[in-house]
Amino acid sequence: MASAGSTAVGPLRRAVIFLGPPGAGKGTQAQEVARLYQVPHLSTGDMFRDHVSRGSPLGLQAKPIMERGELVPDEIVLGMVEERIARPDCSNGFVFDGFPRTLAQAEKLGQILAKLPFGRPLVLHFVVDQGRLLRRLTGRRTCKVGGEIYNIYDRQPKVPGRCDNDGGELVQRPDDREEVIRERLAAYERQTMPLVDYYRRQGVLKDVNGDGDVPTVLQSVVGLLKRAR
Ligand code: AP5
Repeated sequence: MASAGSTAVGPLRRAVIFLGPPGAGKGTQAQEVARLYQVPHLSTGDMFRDHVSRGSPLGLQAKPIMERGELVPDEIVLGMVEERIARPDCSNGFVFDGFPRTLAQAEKLGQILAKLPFGRPLVLHFVVDQGRLLRRLTGRRTCKVGGEIYNIYDRQPKVPGRCDNDGGELVQRPDDREEVIRERLAAYERQTMPLVDYYRRQGVLKDVNGDGDVPTVLQSVVGLLKRAR
């Protein structure tokens, strides 16, 4: 969808973590990077939403927690992630979006990654003006079929209410109601913000200015990925 400039990208061969508050643009950028580098985009939020829509036991557990804007317990998240990254499509690297989200998740991920050939992860921390987050989240619409992310204010589809890629219906996420958004932002500050210091101390974190439009942010992201190789 967005352009990352003319330079070709090489293989990723890394575990990349997109860290940032709800609405920072992690999912949007992860979709672009995954397409560009041909690696999986591993969104724990999408995985949970898939379980919820199928009514699986895991989905039944996660649904009320997500509706309140709280975090799903670590052991549930970790089991799901471990199973996912063991699949063959992750052998050339992957992009985590929305994981890890607690220190316990980050520490466990470190142990898992130590057994893989990629070395330490690269953490891109999306820094976005607080005032923009609410507008981005209340305006978000997502394709029911392929999950492509749009926005009624800033990233509109060609045909209103329909996905450009597959014509799927665009819907609003149940947790994008204002009162749930406030709880999600609070959960981020409480439980996920400490990861910024955790990864900064390890020297693996790079800040990304997420305030620009999608192509501008993507250029910064790809630039950092190329330099970090
Ligand atoms: P999750 O799905 O991960 O949600 P989130 O972290 O709250 O992040 P969002 O998806 O809301 O935001 P985003 O940064 O991806 O923004 P996006 O690109 O869509 O988690 C949902 C729930 O699942 C959690 O609350 C929790 O319950 C559970 N969960 C998930 N992972 C978990 C974990 N690891 N542990 C425990 N629980 C977990 O963009 C937002 C909007 O802005 C879009 O409309 C987009 O078009 C627009 N936009 C994006 N970039 C730009 C830009 N540069 N300019 C203008 N508009 C933009």
